[in-house]
Amino acid sequence: MKKCRIGVVGVGRGSMMWKYCQDAENAQIVAICDKWEEGLEKAKAQINSDSVTYYTSYEEFLKHDMDAVLLANYATEHAPFAIAAMKSGKDVISEVLPAQNMAEAIQLIECVEETGRKYCYAENYCFMGGPREMRQKYLDGSLGAFEYGEGEYMHNCEPIWAKITYGEPDHWRNNISAFFYCTHSVGPLLHITGMRPISVVGFECPFNERMARMGAKAGSIAIEMVTLENGAIVKSLHGLGCSRDSIWYSVYGSKGRMETAREDAECGKMNRVYENLDAFNGENNNHPTSHMAEDALSQKGAKHGHGGSDYICLYHAIEYLNGNKDADIVDVYEAVDMWLCGHFGYLSVLEGGGVQKIPNLRSKLERDAYRNDLRCTLPAAGDQQLPSYSKGNPDIDPAIYDMWKEKWEEYKKQSKK
Ligand SMILES: NC(=O)c1ccc[n+]([C@@H]2O[C@H](COP(=O)([O-])OP(=O)(O)OC[C@H]3O[C@@H](n4cnc5c(N)ncnc54)[C@H](O)[C@@H]3O)[C@@H](O)[C@H]2O)c1
Repeated sequence: MKKCRIGVVGVGRGSMMWKYCQDAENAQIVAICDKWEEGLEKAKAQINSDSVTYYTSYEEFLKHDMDAVLLANYATEHAPFAIAAMKSGKDVISEVLPAQNMAEAIQLIECVEETGRKYCYAENYCFMGGPREMRQKYLDGSLGAFEYGEGEYMHNCEPIWAKITYGEPDHWRNNISAFFYCTHSVGPLLHITGMRPISVVGFECPFNERMARMGAKAGSIAIEMVTLENGAIVKSLHGLGCSRDSIWYSVYGSKGRMETAREDAECGKMNRVYENLDAFNGENNNHPTSHMAEDALSQKGAKHGHGGSDYICLYHAIEYLNGNKDADIVDVYEAVDMWLCGHFGYLSVLEGGGVQKIPNLRSKLERDAYRNDLRCTLPAAGDQQLPSYSKGNPDIDPAIYDMWKEKWEEYKKQSKK
């Protein structure tokens, strides 16, 4: 079997790739890059292989002889890294999110078109058991016409904040808006239907005590109400500042409903499916059944992260890079559509709560209005910089970040023991 030679950037989330390669035949790691030397050394010890080369400079790493790059660097820096990789002749698998602002999203799309390199977006939540089966039932017609859907990615990150922000006030997780990290909730619904979002209304829950304790300057939860191209509505709910976790998906078609198990039911989470479908439109004859959404691939990936979806997502991405035309992937246009829901959802809030039209960036004509649109929460946006919180960035006492830094140092000491 052809093995794709992969280089990984970012040793935190990037570690999913070497876990994947231990169980899969279609890829091998040949290079790893991280500017964080301590983390790179740890990865080296874990991997313990002479066939992997380690880099602290992304520029040097891109000179390595390899087929593709997995980007698990900062979520706000994926587009420029992806563009540099494609220009150096490498295919790209990108972690979430695809871009930071409209100008970058357009540059990313045009780089794929101009270089002819392959790009796929590792939105692993599309590959959880429930969403995968919903997609299959939508495509084979069992769900009927798509009418409504809901997706939730609620993650109380306070218990892991030290491990994922290291006490750095400038870390992206402390500075994004509540809407930025939207693709785990809305992404699976777009992928199930294959439809484009055409407009969105955003709602932002207030900055709360948890966000203040974390030092994250955003609203605690975001909601996007998205209209799809067939008129169906999708609700996307996500947040880092909520009190409890929830990953949950529900879809209504003309022939009935499918949904995943609620976390509190403790019976398989997003890999359990409740199916209540009729053979004919509108029969309204309730006959719900439930089962674990499993197949040979999910069984093979069961021990991998995020309910096995990390494995399935990477399997398809690498099959695609290796030339398998049946691979199920999220391409650059779909990735950008997922991100646009949150981006325009936040603009809706900032502009008073009205409907925002979502442009179709497949159309070259529609791109022109946005080529110089740098709006995002990064300082690099200059006078177009948006606040992280719609009501103005809250003041955070620097002692908060010192506290998380201490916890991070303590965590590193404990994990060495
Ligand atoms: N899909 C999922 O379920 C999931 C889960 C966790 C994280 N993520 C994504 O994975 C990515 C990484 O997140 P993370 O939690 O590992 O933490 P992170 O974003 O803090 O870490 C990024 C890593 O990249 C390295 N890095 C950044 N810039 C670099 C550069 N210029 N050169 C070399 N190395 C550089 C950093 O040193 C760090 O080790 C993010 O995009 C995040 O959104 C996805």
